[in-house]
Amino acid sequence: MSADERAVRGGRLRIVRDGHELARIAGDVFATVAETALRERGRFTIALAGGATPRASYAVLAADARSPKPRLDWSRAHVYWGDERCVPPDHPDSNYRMARETLLDVVPVPEAQVHRMRGEEEDPARAAALYETVLRASFDAAAPEVPRFDLVLLGLGTDAHTASLFPGSPVLPETTRLVAAPFVEKLGTHRITLTPPVLNAARHVVFMVSGSTKAEALRDVLEGEERPDLRPAQCVRPDRGSLLWLVDAEAAARLSA
Ligand code: 6PG
Repeated sequence: MSADERAVRGGRLRIVRDGHELARIAGDVFATVAETALRERGRFTIALAGGATPRASYAVLAADARSPKPRLDWSRAHVYWGDERCVPPDHPDSNYRMARETLLDVVPVPEAQVHRMRGEEEDPARAAALYETVLRASFDAAAPEVPRFDLVLLGLGTDAHTASLFPGSPVLPETTRLVAAPFVEKLGTHRITLTPPVLNAARHVVFMVSGSTKAEALRDVLEGEERPDLRPAQCVRPDRGSLLWLVDAEAAARLSA
């Protein structure tokens, strides 16, 4: 464990200077995991995070792909999402659109290897079921096997939600489904999300948390009472994988020294 890392609940915490450094390091972690996966399995599977924080990290990865000697062979990447809003893929709120604009329009991932959640579906439950079918087929993982991502990227909400697992969500205790479409009271809409079993089957999970608005939630998740029903990010404890909290100094400001 490097000097600027320390052990936290079920994983490691690394505090970096600011959002720029977080993006750079997240890009490096992503590339390192991908290189190992390519070496060991000939492909790498990644579940992208949504929201705003990952944009800068995806831009770092896109810049590397444009460099004279890119680190990664993106032709062997298989890209998924941790969650999606119930909007069309070209909607400003779409996590797919954000990743396409910042990363996927630049890196040469074959379209057949980009697996978006169909947020445009009239019936979110059907979209979730469709995505579960895609996951099982593309990982060749028939039930009850759980697909094992090489890397899952996650963010943290100010209410300690992650992916689209919100406080009080009926999906938090899920043990068999891979994908769900809960109605999120506070948003007044459905979301499509991977469930805890999938997140916890991953080889590597990386949370990216930036900014002072996340400081209280981060302290509650890492140092507060274990209440995953109220702090869904506490549900993420990889069974056989690594967990890294990559946070900037502002987000870490409320953590104990
Ligand atoms: C989403 C994300 C969500 C996000 C957090 C943090 O669809 O919004 O999956 O879980 O990671 O809300 O979002 P920011 O990075 O925008 O703060």
